[in-house]
Order: sequence, then structure tokens, then C-alpha cells
Amino acid sequence: MAQFNLPPNSVIGKGKTYYAGAGAKNVRRFQIYRWDPDSGENPRMDTYEVDLAACGPMILDALLKIKNEVDPTLAFRRSCREGVCGSCAMNIDGTNTLACTKAIGDVAGEVKIYPLPHMAVVKDLVPDLTHFYAQYASIKPWLQSATPPPERERLQSKEDRAKLDGLYECILCACCSTSCPSYWWNGERYLGPSILLQAYRWIVDSRDEFTGERLDDLEDPFRLYRCHTIMNCTKTCPKSLNPAKAIAEIKKLMVERR
Ligand code: SF4
Ligand code: SF4
Ligand code: FES
Repeated sequence: MAQFNLPPNSVIGKGKTYYAGAGAKNVRRFQIYRWDPDSGENPRMDTYEVDLAACGPMILDALLKIKNEVDPTLAFRRSCREGVCGSCAMNIDGTNTLACTKAIGDVAGEVKIYPLPHMAVVKDLVPDLTHFYAQYASIKPWLQSATPPPERERLQSKEDRAKLDGLYECILCACCSTSCPSYWWNGERYLGPSILLQAYRWIVDSRDEFTGERLDDLEDPFRLYRCHTIMNCTKTCPKSLNPAKAIAEIKKLMVERR
């Protein structure tokens, strides 16, 4: 049976409002999900007014400004601030995306920010990705070879290298998996689009010699076949990748080898 991962007493209440100072020139309101497991209280939506005249252009700039200047208790992950590390993934204006590459100007009206959906919450905008990373480890995301290593690097033709385009760019932000209805309901057993795209990245790598074993591991009604081609994953990917296509390619290989 499907289980929700929201914390107990998860009904969201109205929180505090932090108003911009009197001299603010260009005010936008940010509504942000807050939950502190140590408080014993229900989650709430706090509202922060930010003067965009004194703020960078991205959602992450506003979050940093709020944390640095208004409310240091606000918790969120970030590192690279340029769409490379994947740690600032969250739900902004109803879509899973990266706070550092989403422009404030691309959101109309009040900016609503929640943690990635259908994940347990550690605090505020920080989701618990323990299970997601365990699923990633389960696909053995490294090159596997039975033959002794060559004296120099393992070579690859330009054509074979091109097969990794659209795959190697994945930053494991989990935006796609947490937008996937199949992953919401079967996330304990279904690997989800992000991990399956990563699995395919190793399956098509000409240097990897364990393609058969990798496909064997995925030949399972839940790990692979819970994808119903709903395409939320591809629509939401902030790196413009196509996990649904990677999943379809794995399914095709399954059929071809029968
Ligand atoms: S295409 Fe598959 S993986 Fe992507 S959202 Fe739909 S069910 Fe999930
Ligand atoms: S496929 Fe896109 S959305 Fe999914 S984890 Fe990789 S970069 Fe993020
Ligand atoms: S901070 Fe690294 S992707 Fe946003």
C-alpha cells in the first residue's frame, strides 16, 4: 500500500510575516515552507518580503538574503550556485527545479517554495535523500570490467562517447524522481527516472563489460517497469535531460535480448 512520507501532524499552518524595511523599492513576497522536527509543531508557511532592488536575480539569492539578513533559522541546501551540484533542488512555483538557476523574474506574483515533494523532510526545505542515494549505489555507478586494465586509459570511439551525451550531464538533483507519480507511490521499490537514467549511462558505455548483469538487475516488475511514460520527469529536469527516453531505451534493450 502507498505510504505518505510526510511527518505526523503535517497540516500546514499560517506562519509569521517578515516585512521589508520602510525604504524598500521593489518588494516581492516569498512564502516558504517551514518545519522544525525539534519544535514539536506542525509545518507552517512563513512570508518574507524581499527588496529585489538589493537582491541578486535568482531564487537562491533571495533565500540567502533571507537567511543572512532576516531569519538565520531557515534551512536549505546549496553549494555551487550555478546548476552543477544539484543540492538546491526544491519545489518553486509548483515545479521542481534548482533555486540557483530559477530567476525570480520568471515567477509571477508571490513566490511559493516547498521542499521536493513526497520525500521525508529533515528541516524546512531539506529533504531526506538517504533512500535516493541508496538506490543510486544499488545500480553500481562505476565502470565494471572483467578484463585486466590496459596500460593506458580505456579508449572509446567518438561515436561511442557521443552515446553518453544527454546522460553524463545529470547532476542527481532528484527533481525528476520527486515529480514522478510512480515514484511517489512505489518509491521504496521503483528506482525512478534519475537512477534509471544513471543506470542507462553505464549500460551504454562501450567500456563497461557488465551490460548483461546490469540489465539482469533491472529485470524486475518494480525496479524498472513502474515507469508508465507519464513524462513529468522530462518536463521538469532543470538540465533539459530526458530520463523518460533513457528508461524507454532500457526497456528496448530488455526486449532485444530476449
Ligand atoms: S516517464 Fe516514467 S519515470 Fe518519467 S515521470 Fe513518467 S512514470 Fe515517472
Ligand atoms: S535527470 Fe535531470 S532532473 Fe533528474 S536527477 Fe538528473 S539532472 Fe536532475
Ligand atoms: S547550488 Fe548547486 S545546483 Fe544550485
